[in-house]
Amino acid sequence: MLAKGYGRDSAVIALGGGVVGDLAGFVAATFMRGIPVVQVPTSLMAMVDASIGGKTGVDTYLGKNLVGVFHFPAAVIVDPQVLATLPLRQVRAGIAEIVKHGVIADEAYFLEVASSLRELLDYKGGPTSDRMLAVIVKSIEIKADIVSRDEREDGLRKTLNFGHTIGHAVELVSGYSLLHGEAVAIGMALEGRLAESIGVAQTGTAEAITKSLQAAGLPTDLPQPFERDAVL
Ligand SMILES: NC(=O)c1ccc[n+]([C@@H]2O[C@H](COP(=O)([O-])OP(=O)(O)OC[C@H]3O[C@@H](n4cnc5c(N)ncnc54)[C@H](O)[C@@H]3O)[C@@H](O)[C@H]2O)c1
Ligand SMILES: [Zn+2]
Repeated sequence: MLAKGYGRDSAVIALGGGVVGDLAGFVAATFMRGIPVVQVPTSLMAMVDASIGGKTGVDTYLGKNLVGVFHFPAAVIVDPQVLATLPLRQVRAGIAEIVKHGVIADEAYFLEVASSLRELLDYKGGPTSDRMLAVIVKSIEIKADIVSRDEREDGLRKTLNFGHTIGHAVELVSGYSLLHGEAVAIGMALEGRLAESIGVAQTGTAEAITKSLQAAGLPTDLPQPFERDAVL
C-alpha cells in the first residue's frame, strides 16, 4: 500500500474469510496509525464471529492471536448467498461458533439451532437458506450485544472465549491442521465437562453441547494420537 502511494484517506475492504478479515483489519489498524476497514465476510465463521467485534490479529507458531489490535469496522456487509461455494467442512466449522453463541447467551437459540442442523447443512441450499440467514442475524445480534457492553474484554466479553482456552491449544498443537471451528468444538466439549466437574454447570450441559456438535459433524474429543502434555 505504501509502494502504491495509498495515504491516510484510504480504506481497506476485507473480502474473505476470518483470516483475511483479521489480517486486513490489522493492516487497516496500523497503516498510517489507522484507516477505516469495511468487513465483507464470505465464510460462515467470519459472518457470525470474526467480522464482528473489532478484534484483529495474526497467528504465529508460538500461539494464536498474540499479535493484534482492536479496530472496529466502519461497516460489516453480509450476503449469505456467497456461502453457496463454501466447502461443507467450513460451514460446519462456522456452526461451532453459532452453537457457542447459544450456549453462552440464549438457550432457546441453542435448542433451535440444534434442531435445525439437518436443514442448515443440507447440501441443496442449506447454507444459503432463509433459515441460515435468520441464524446468522441472531448470532451477530448476540455477539454485537456482548461486545457493545464490554468492548475491551474486561468481563462479560470473556464468555465469547468459551471453548477457546482448550481450543486454541488444540489448534496450535494440531499445527493448524484442525480448522478453528473444529478446535473450538473440541474445546467446548471438554470445557463443558470441566464446568460440570467443578460444579459451575448443571449436569447434562456437556452432553447437550457434545450431542449438538456431533450432529453438526464436528469433533468433540482430542484426535488420536494427540500430545496431551503439549495441549496442557
Ligand atoms: N477476530 C475475531 O474475533 C475472530 C473470531 C473468530 C475467528 N477468528 C479467526 O478467523 C479464522 C478462521 O476464519 P475462517 O473459518 O473464515 O477461515 P478462512 O479465512 O481460512 O476461510 C476458510 C476457507 O474458506 C475459503 N472461503 C472463504 N469464503 C468462501 C466462499 N464464499 N466460497 C468458497 N470458499 C471460501 C477461504 O479461502 C479459506 O480457504 C481463524 O484464524 C480465527 O482465529 C477471528
Ligand atoms: Zn473462535
